[in-house]
Amino acid sequence: MPTLNVNGRDLEVQADPNTPLLWVLREQLGLTGTKYGCGVAQCGACTVHIDGAAVRSCVMPLSALKPAQKVTTIEGLSTGASHPVQKAWLALDVPQCGYCQSGMIMAAAALLKEKPRPTDAEIDDAMTNICRCGTYNRVRAAIHVAADGGTPKA
Ligand code: FES
Ligand code: FES
Repeated sequence: MPTLNVNGRDLEVQADPNTPLLWVLREQLGLTGTKYGCGVAQCGACTVHIDGAAVRSCVMPLSALKPAQKVTTIEGLSTGASHPVQKAWLALDVPQCGYCQSGMIMAAAALLKEKPRPTDAEIDDAMTNICRCGTYNRVRAAIHVAADGGTPKA
């Protein structure tokens, strides 16, 4: 049985090695914050972090994960939604229906780790997640607020 390190815990999973990580997270571990949108790496709804980098879990087979790699889902991004991205998302009311937003937040958090003060162009390049509700402008604004710590300037 493979062991996965998810949100800081070592967890045993029973799944075929070809099973995408998304389904292991959702169906075996009950971590349903990570969403299924397209299943073909296009929409970003399934974005999680592997060793801090944004990865589309719908196309990542279990067998591609090394035992030492750390998986983080939206449930493990912070305690009490205290990550600057989550604070900014709340402050700016970013979500509409919400379906794409776990993936958006995970992608934004990975971007800020790599580029703490991204430009609009860098945000547009990095944030390739699809939102059917068209929250793109608020996503961009919230990433700038998150870069300032997550609280909008008065
Ligand atoms: S569900 Fe993975 S990218 Fe769309
Ligand atoms: S908030 Fe509805 S799909 Fe993005």
